[in-house]
Amino acid sequence: MPDKPKFYLTTPIYYANSRPHVGSAYTTIVCDVIARYKRMCGYDVAFVTGTDEHGVNIERAAEAKGITPQQLVDENEKIFRELWKLLGITNRIGNGGEGFVRTTSPEHARAVQTLVRRTIEQDKHLPPDKRSIFKRKYEGRYCIYDNAYVSDTPEPVNCPTCGRPAELISEENYFFRLSAYKDRLLDLYKSQPQFVQPDFRMNEVRSFVEGDLRDISISRKSIKWGIPWPGDPEHVFYVWYDALTSYMTAIGYGEGEDGEANPQFRKYWTASDAHVLHMIGKEIIRFHAVYWPAFLMAAELPLPKQIFAHGWLLFEQEKMSKSKGNVAYPEPIVKAFDELTGAKVGNDALRYYLLRETVFGQDGNFSRESLIIRYNADLANGLGNLASRVLTMMEQYFDGRIPNMPVPWPGEREKQIENLKTWVFEAARARYDSFDFSGALEAIWRLIAEVDKYLVEFQPWVLAKDKAKWDQLETVLSAAYDAVRVATFLAHPVLPESTQRIWPQLGQVGKLGSEFLDDLLLPLGRQPVRIGKPEGVFPRADKKELYERIEAMENEIRNPGTAQPSATSPAPAATGASAASSTAPVASSKITIEDFAKVELRVGRIDSAERIQGADKLLKIMVNIGDEVRQVLAGIALAYAPENLVGRKVVVVTNLAPRKMRGLESNGMLLAASTADGNPVLCTFAEEIPPGSKVK
Ligand code: MSP
Repeated sequence: MPDKPKFYLTTPIYYANSRPHVGSAYTTIVCDVIARYKRMCGYDVAFVTGTDEHGVNIERAAEAKGITPQQLVDENEKIFRELWKLLGITNRIGNGGEGFVRTTSPEHARAVQTLVRRTIEQDKHLPPDKRSIFKRKYEGRYCIYDNAYVSDTPEPVNCPTCGRPAELISEENYFFRLSAYKDRLLDLYKSQPQFVQPDFRMNEVRSFVEGDLRDISISRKSIKWGIPWPGDPEHVFYVWYDALTSYMTAIGYGEGEDGEANPQFRKYWTASDAHVLHMIGKEIIRFHAVYWPAFLMAAELPLPKQIFAHGWLLFEQEKMSKSKGNVAYPEPIVKAFDELTGAKVGNDALRYYLLRETVFGQDGNFSRESLIIRYNADLANGLGNLASRVLTMMEQYFDGRIPNMPVPWPGEREKQIENLKTWVFEAARARYDSFDFSGALEAIWRLIAEVDKYLVEFQPWVLAKDKAKWDQLETVLSAAYDAVRVATFLAHPVLPESTQRIWPQLGQVGKLGSEFLDDLLLPLGRQPVRIGKPEGVFPRADKKELYERIEAMENEIRNPGTAQPSATSPAPAATGASAASSTAPVASSKITIEDFAKVELRVGRIDSAERIQGADKLLKIMVNIGDEVRQVLAGIALAYAPENLVGRKVVVVTNLAPRKMRGLESNGMLLAASTADGNPVLCTFAEEIPPGSKVK
């Protein structure tokens, strides 16, 4: 038997200064889907995550809590680990050890020190001005919140990412001669255009390297909380050299003279067939696609095969982030779903939503309301309902035996379904392969919708009433059964828990995760299979009740001891294009005409529109509503060029409480529909209508 192909997959290591939120869980969930999928494709997968535990922000967070940095990271690391368990994350190395790395572990310190020693050793014969690592005075501004240099001059400046004043740093540092790697990096991007994905990110990285590539500081004297520099312990490593090396520590780098003694490291990193993928968020691409390959080139170690940078999960148009206070946490979502449906569905509901709703690679909006809607529509009414209908009929009419496989007397319609099944198999596979998760799920759900339609057309419950039609009944149920089997199988990487509960109901044995994708479309054989007891897998969720429960649980995390819904997050309300969402909790899932009348809607004419610096999605719009001109901030910048909006008539919610965003006031909201991809489409008028007219 030839060896399985290798696949080494990493998430970024998460800052352990606070607990994870849905945004941080996103990268890990995505990686888990990839890891599960690759295993089903026959790969030997090493999948690693971990925590980034050094740096000033950890020191400060610990100080604020009156504990040591080590105590703080120990506390938070546990929360990460527990969350990954709750989310069923399969971070492990092959079939062996846990894939979890901590940067405060002794193994990691050894790995970082070995890497730098190896680099210095390699350059010994070079003149000092050609060596990759050297000492120099550094003076510049540094953002301790984003762990990034903001400027290389001492003048005061604000961090472009978080807007806070950057701190002055002035000290002797060890530097990495990044400037010397310009040509080699450009050659790398040229010879391996897939090195950075998606393509548009590759272009960003290339332009950055083509510009003025500066040497970077990789040590700190002013910080105590870090890995000591070998032979110069006054210095500790700067977070990125330390953090990036963790990708190798996790699989055993650092052992032996050259650091490469560990067989796992050789297998997953240095072997000629090793395939290393770093999955990251878009804001840390430079560190991964520029610094990291240069560090590795300097140490003469093989490079990863690919860096994939995904977009952000936005909450009210802004990146979800603890420091901005606009976060949703995964635990309440999972637990509230489980509690209120009485079934273990919360994890799969969250995973499905995150992968289905956002086009992977681009930014996506997170909303609890759409999460619940998706669950009810696609899981409860979609896969769950179809599986339970088909299985219940098989139980009822055929005593739980699958009549015959393949479909006994296929007609035109059955052949169509058969073809669709093959198409879905190929499409889902190709889309999973290219990390187009929403596309893969869309293909699978196309099959579910088609079989739903097929059952409505042939009405097996009517066929069952006439014994003469039982051949046809058998055909219809066999075709439907097999489509459910295929959909369940293909959805497994995204819905690991629920598909595994459907699997035995389909009369299938074993763990879905150990099945091979290539076997999926093999004929099942003609012997009847006994199905398991049909049981609903996705009970419907009551939107309002669930929403409020999630809110209360989240609030409990934010302010332990209080279980009130948060006053700062929007309850389910009309989807608007404005940044100013409603803040009132929903009172009931149906509203009265009086409730509706509370919303004042008017025709507005857009007088001007302009972009807002630093906010990709927002436009500042001046809208004439008859007796006044209002300033409204609307999250439509990706869908509309400002100059195309002037003169447009739109629907404005005029009695919404004003709200500040990015220091600007938004006084109203523009109504817009949302396409399946989450793009806004403004509501507008076909007939002439003066601004200020009431909409009712
Ligand atoms: N510690 C560094 C990474 C070092 S890797 C060698 C770091 N940590 S982080 O905790 O700030 O972010 C970790 C990952 O979580 C990043 O990929 C980041 O993009 C992701 N996310 C954090 N918030 C996010 C969203 N709101 N949306 C999507 N992903 C986000 O950077």
